[in-house]
Amino acid sequence: MITDSYGRTINYLRLAVTDRCNLRCTYCMPKDGLDWLPRRELMTYEEMWRICNLLVKMGVEKIRITGGEPFVRKDLLPFLKNISTINGLQQLTLTTNGVLTAPFIPELKKIGIKTVNLSLDTLDRDRFIKITHRDELNKIMETLESLLHHDFEVKINAVVMEGLNTEDIIPLVELTKALPVAVRFIEEMPFNGGSHLTALHWDAQRILEYMKAHFPGIQKRPDAAHSTSYNYHIPGHKGEVGIIAAYSRSFCGSCNRLRITPTGIVRTCLYDKGKLNIKEALREGKDDEALQDMIAQTILKKAANGREAERTRDKHEPAQESMATIGG
Ligand code: 5AD
Ligand code: SF4
Repeated sequence: MITDSYGRTINYLRLAVTDRCNLRCTYCMPKDGLDWLPRRELMTYEEMWRICNLLVKMGVEKIRITGGEPFVRKDLLPFLKNISTINGLQQLTLTTNGVLTAPFIPELKKIGIKTVNLSLDTLDRDRFIKITHRDELNKIMETLESLLHHDFEVKINAVVMEGLNTEDIIPLVELTKALPVAVRFIEEMPFNGGSHLTALHWDAQRILEYMKAHFPGIQKRPDAAHSTSYNYHIPGHKGEVGIIAAYSRSFCGSCNRLRITPTGIVRTCLYDKGKLNIKEALREGKDDEALQDMIAQTILKKAANGREAERTRDKHEPAQESMATIGG
């Protein structure tokens, strides 16, 4: 079991397998994309496999595969299949934008994946194009339908943005009426790779008040132990709604996460900069014990919360990278 210096158990790894993406969500990257990382800088599947095994031995129980868009990376499925066989791993899951996902769904089911997070900020085609700079909403809706058809537990992530998708808040909540999905509204964070300056118009409180005004009967649901979302339910609806205060950072006290970026940087918080490059340590030929020790030492430096993590950055390194290079 790995714990940090505040006694938090770290048992959840978010592993970003690529920075590349087939969408250009404005809250994540500029419309012309990022300067994609050269391939040699990405961890290979073999390297990720070794790190995942080490981390599971150290107490990691849940792994989420993210990106960029994970399905943009070639041969993702055999990798997922391998990861799903790691002894001691209790849950494998992934976050996807749903554009390329549909054909893989039966296989995902077969290897034991039970929950999938789908990024979907609007149900309107024009607004979708405005947000993502691509015309792919149909494919995502097909993915959603197929995931539900295959009995996946589906969480929809919607970043709330003034002037872009606030008209979608109510339709997205209404989606939970007939569908057993959890729609989670996320505060916009500044990690957009320089796409624009972020001002938080819609914080968790405002989103909640807005939902309450339209659904006065909305009820609080209990939140799971390490949940980042505050969860609610509208009587009569099959699904749930949630709010993730990703910018306000009110959930850090129970954080159980560790992130590894596509280049192998171990980050103990979204808002820190990450000092350990585990891929380089691995390529230098460090043995398992040395690698585990380096990871444990890094976790001991995990900041108390996201505000403190942000303060550990150098002044000339404000938190404005892209979520695609950090791992969403
Ligand atoms: N602010 C908040 N959430 C973001 N995501 C990506 N970029 C941001 C941002 N700047 C979320 C998206 C996606 C997940 C991978 O990360 O909702 O679902
Ligand atoms: Fe791609 Fe996800 Fe970033 Fe959108 S938020 S551009 S889907 S990585």
